[in-house]
Amino acid sequence: MSPAGALPLAGLPGDSAARPRRCFIETWGCQMNELDSQRMAGQLMEQGILPTRDPQEADIILLNSCSVREKAEGKVFSRLGEYRLYKRGRKGVATPLIGLCGCVAQQVGERALKKVPELDFVLGPARVGELRDVISRRRAGERVVATGFPAERSFEMDTISRQGEYKGMVTIIEGCDKKCTFCIVPTTRGPERSRTMEEILAEVRHLVDYGFLEIELLGQTVNHWRDPETGEDFADLLAACAKTPGVRRLRFVTSYPRDFTPRMVAQIGEYANISPYLHLPVQSGSDSVLQRMGRGYSAASYYDLVDQLRAARAGLALSTDLIVGFPGETEEDFAATLAMVERLRFSSVYAFKYSPRPGTAAPRLGEPVDRPIADRRLQTLLALQEGIQRQLNEELVGEEMEVLITGWGKQPGTQTGRTPCHRVVHFPTCETDRLGGMTRVRIEKALAHSLLAQPLTPAPAPLRSSPLAVLS
Ligand code: SAH
Ligand code: F3S
Repeated sequence: MSPAGALPLAGLPGDSAARPRRCFIETWGCQMNELDSQRMAGQLMEQGILPTRDPQEADIILLNSCSVREKAEGKVFSRLGEYRLYKRGRKGVATPLIGLCGCVAQQVGERALKKVPELDFVLGPARVGELRDVISRRRAGERVVATGFPAERSFEMDTISRQGEYKGMVTIIEGCDKKCTFCIVPTTRGPERSRTMEEILAEVRHLVDYGFLEIELLGQTVNHWRDPETGEDFADLLAACAKTPGVRRLRFVTSYPRDFTPRMVAQIGEYANISPYLHLPVQSGSDSVLQRMGRGYSAASYYDLVDQLRAARAGLALSTDLIVGFPGETEEDFAATLAMVERLRFSSVYAFKYSPRPGTAAPRLGEPVDRPIADRRLQTLLALQEGIQRQLNEELVGEEMEVLITGWGKQPGTQTGRTPCHRVVHFPTCETDRLGGMTRVRIEKALAHSLLAQPLTPAPAPLRSSPLAVLS
């Protein structure tokens, strides 16, 4: 890399200004990006650089981007355009560094530096652990492009900044080896790699000690995890995590339908602290679309898996991802998707209009679906789901349940949380309730996308020395 376009490098660690250094991190996309942002914030905080909510006062601005659909990717360069104005506008104050991180960074690489002269570095998702080193290379004058998939990757659990979080996320498997024909993730996140059970359990214990009651295991195909040394599989890992003292709620995302085994299904029925909620993307209800998507399962086998899961765990809530307007999708195909939604009664559906991604096979596999048709299908699907969701939510009215507190509500004096089955719930706050803590509520009213509840008199909360307590 040449030091072309070298920028003033004030605002970096080691400068002697009295003002505290600040970083601003904007995060798009999935939970993996959320965790990567926590990792980057942690590395910066270790150097005394504190987070800020205001990019205009930041010394380092990181854009952690997503490229799974065109729309998210389109936003990246307009955001960078805004950030470069902060750089130009700063007179007499340290000039901020700007880094492009995440999946667009991996995809666009060096071209981003050419396109945005004010950009200081590009950091791909598999290189997040190298942020400190990249910044010091920038200090030495290099506009760094750190992308690709090194053989060794770090998971610096001790320095992850988890402030303001209500759940402890743990990456168990990185990358993806599936080849779904619409998806760019295998290109941007690289080949699949599992961490060892030993490392994962150490991190789970660390998160419990930190004060988290909910643990979320992360991976693009989380149930494809296998210990690289012992060969233990996801069923073994689920059991080991569920048995870890202090884990009150265990969730995992995202499961791949074909990778479920009967043992995994059985574990979900076996441990009460495994959430009665599962995100199980199906993408389409039509066999011919599923085949062209390269998903490797049929609608019938998905129905069968759902039957097994629901038999193993009463009251299991399921959510899914669906794509409408996949190349060649006919009205008949779409009708099969609607029929699936009607029959399986998902607790929520993340529905997307197909978006062609560079380097993927899908555009060659069928005629493009006209945009107005795809729009109409999306609206039809969402309307159907909304009715189902409202009904499912109404079935919960009158029930008492334990809620994990996830944040403050928009109305003063209210908080939001998640039920065991992962519904969003709003309730008037109680004095003892803390972010990341649990409280009991009674569900009073159902809306299409959330529930309203009243808190029940809370049991005296055990005193903890957790940093989470400070946040409430
Ligand atoms: N296994 C991953 C999938 C990542 S992509 C996970 O963690 O969920 C998330 C979802 O985005 C996919 O399930 C799919 O429904 C949707 N998606 C991916 N590529 C897409 C595309 N090209 N167009 C529209 N939606 C897409
Ligand atoms: Fe994408 Fe399919 Fe992997 S949706 S992340 S290629 S499982």
